[in-house]
Amino acid sequence: MAATAPSTRARVHSIFRHSEMGRGGRRWRVLHLTVLAAGLLAIAISSIDGLPIWTDDVLTAIVVLVAVVFFGEYLVRLWAAPESNRFAGLSDGMARLRWALSINGLIGLLAVFPVLAITFSSIHAGNEWAPIFCVFWILKLSVHAPAMTTLARVIANERATLASVVIIFVMVLVTAAALAHMLERELQPKVFGNIPESLWWAVVTLTTTGYGDVVPKTVGGRMVGSLVMVSGIVVLALLTGILATGFSEEERRREYLRVWDQVTRVPMFAELGTVTLSEIVSKLRVRHYPPRIVVVRRDEPGDSMFFISEGEVEVRLPRGSVALRQGGFFGEMALLDRLPRSATVVTTQPTTLLVLYASDFYEVAANIPSLVEAVEREARRRRAENQGAPAKVETP
Ligand code: CMP
Repeated sequence: MAATAPSTRARVHSIFRHSEMGRGGRRWRVLHLTVLAAGLLAIAISSIDGLPIWTDDVLTAIVVLVAVVFFGEYLVRLWAAPESNRFAGLSDGMARLRWALSINGLIGLLAVFPVLAITFSSIHAGNEWAPIFCVFWILKLSVHAPAMTTLARVIANERATLASVVIIFVMVLVTAAALAHMLERELQPKVFGNIPESLWWAVVTLTTTGYGDVVPKTVGGRMVGSLVMVSGIVVLALLTGILATGFSEEERRREYLRVWDQVTRVPMFAELGTVTLSEIVSKLRVRHYPPRIVVVRRDEPGDSMFFISEGEVEVRLPRGSVALRQGGFFGEMALLDRLPRSATVVTTQPTTLLVLYASDFYEVAANIPSLVEAVEREARRRRAENQGAPAKVETP
């Protein structure tokens, strides 16, 4: 049994990866989202007053069921944690501890609390504490949002710049509150009577929220208010710019690593030198497709070509179908001939493709002629095959 255990655990672990495109991974994601939606809906409905008594039992049953599923998920994730690359080299126990203390582990644990609360203190769906489950459970959505990790990294990368903007924010805030207190305290002692009170107005104005519950009445106070509003827009624009730029840079870096990882599986790239390879890597994009997805459709205009780094596609030609596997490519004919797609191409298994857009294709053609010559040679062979000899299954 000891020999088979790691492979079962590895399979189970891979199902939980959000990039997993296999049937197991997709089914798990659908089930997880359905259970999550059912739990949130049950809590939301139970907060409505005046529902019939029987609904409380039904909703409590749903909440218990959801909490039990999350409990099971937590245990399985904990068991499979040593399979994660992040914990390579650690003992099983240490890997599990590290996972349990990671953000995902803590979110998983919080989601399990409701089941303990229900078991030990007979909480009902309509209980006054039940809405807190909503907060714990909605956090689980982050498991399906890989960009959350990117955001955390962006904030870490840009912390010095972000800190500068936050300091500007605090400076404007305190100055505005102090000036407003000086100018307005006589007319409105209740809301501008001291600096802490004026801070509320300053925060609401600086964030451009402006509830209107506190407004300056003196000319000086209004002038300060106007300046604070304009500063608010500037500060928010700065924050947005810093985060957006950092986000797109981080995504570019990650995509580059993802492509490097996939490119080695395509033999025609493996033959290129590192410098040439790095040039094409920056132009390729990784796309994961489940089975039975139409990647290109006959007669539609073509704006990209694809290299298969994993999986298989079927090229549907009028004369029959051709299978293309790992290392193969398609979509080149529309780019070379500047004509609509000559065939429909459909995935037959979970497939990973490297996409090269037309604009980059022509640039690559100029810089790496050997690669495009190989593509052109194959395109010529395909054209001849489509016009003459019957199609046959091809393995690159
Ligand atoms: P394109 O015409 O852009 O879109 C459909 C693609 O199917 C085409 O490029 C080729 O990459 C691929 N294709 C067309 N004919 C064949 C063939 N006989 N064998 C393999 N692939 C083909």
